[in-house]
This record gives sequence, structure tokens and C-alpha cells, in this order.
Amino acid sequence: MSSFPPTWTAQPFRTLRLEDEMRAAARPFFERLPDDPYVPAGWRARRLTRWTLGPGAAREALPATPVWQTKAHNSRFGDLPRSFAPLDAAWASSEPFDRLVASFRAALPEPVDGWVLWAHQIRTRWRPGGIAPPPDGPHRDERVYLAIAVFDVVGVDPGTTRLLAAPEGPVLFERTLQPGDVLVFDDERLWHETRMPVQGGPGHRDVMLLAVTRQVHDGLPPEPRS
Ligand SMILES: [Fe+2]
Repeated sequence: MSSFPPTWTAQPFRTLRLEDEMRAAARPFFERLPDDPYVPAGWRARRLTRWTLGPGAAREALPATPVWQTKAHNSRFGDLPRSFAPLDAAWASSEPFDRLVASFRAALPEPVDGWVLWAHQIRTRWRPGGIAPPPDGPHRDERVYLAIAVFDVVGVDPGTTRLLAAPEGPVLFERTLQPGDVLVFDDERLWHETRMPVQGGPGHRDVMLLAVTRQVHDGLPPEPRS
């Protein structure tokens, strides 16, 4: 921690902007996401791929495996192994996606060569009268650094994203992330939540959630490990 740049130590988050071209390139792939089976049907669709990171843009995809968090840091999904289909290869191997990963890595306060990159692609949908799951509440993903990249918000209120020093506060960041906004933060030091309104729609909010962990088994269920 002592080697962190002073700016990151004082403020363990930062904001970036997505290029319009990157958002446009991703749009067709948000239309082809399978349903997230861990929330009420139709509420959310998502994919997940993990890679080991090399130097520069090099990365190697890891086999799909259930992922998890502990109850201590995620009261809603903790202790629940969750499996998702991988990202569409045409998106994950594209030049705009490479630039997204590069901008995330460049925003981090330390090199992450040899670490594991996670990319969740998520569409959250609203429709009038739909059944919404309970809000996640403040939680940690149990990764090291996270980025919430908002690619699109269509027909709905985008909700409010907060970063907190502890579940009960204080609140260090609170903002409505607009299309193109990226919030990068230290998931080991901060708790986060997005308060999504459940009125309005039909519409959706498209997000790429990027994360890094240090070891290949970080974030996987404790047993079995292969
Ligand atoms: Fe989260």
C-alpha cells in the first residue's frame, strides 16, 4: 500500500469516460445475453469471462467455472456458486474491447501483469409491473479493483451508485452514472451499491463490470478446486 501514488491513497477511486465508438461496438452484443438464472426471470441477462493477464494487451482465457463471494461481504449472493456463459468471442477479441481493458489497467495504481481479469457483461431490464429482486445493498465483490462501465441506459432512470468506507458509511462517492461513465475503485477498501429504481420502462441499463484478482483461484468456491 505504501507504494500507491498519493492521489490513489487519498481517494481510492477515479472516473473515466468511454469512447462513443466503444459503446457502439458493444451494443449488438448486449442484445445477445442469456438470462441470469439467479434473479427473477427476465430481470437481468449476463455473461462472464476470466483471463490471466500478460504484459501489454496479452491475455489468455480461463475455463468457465462457478464464481462466488462470501456471506460476509455479500449478504445477497454470498456462499452461492454462480455460473455464467462466456462473453461472445467476437466482442471479447475485438479491438474496442482491448482498449476498454487497456484503459482499466492504465487507471489502476499498480501493475496487474500475471493477475486475473474478470469481465461481466450485464443488461438489467425494467418493465412496468415486472418483479424486481431485492436490492443488493452495500457489498464487496471480493476482487481487488473493480470498474463499473455504463455502456447504455435506455428508457429508465439509471439509478445512483455509491461507494462507502463501510456498509453503514460514510459515503465517499454518490452519483448517477450516465452512459459512457466508468467508475474504477478499490474493492478491498470500499463497499459499493447501485440503487436501481424499479419504476419506468420498459428499458434497460447495459454495464461491463471489469475486475482483477491476484490469483487464479481468487473468487472461486473453496471446494472443489481443480
Ligand atoms: Fe458488486
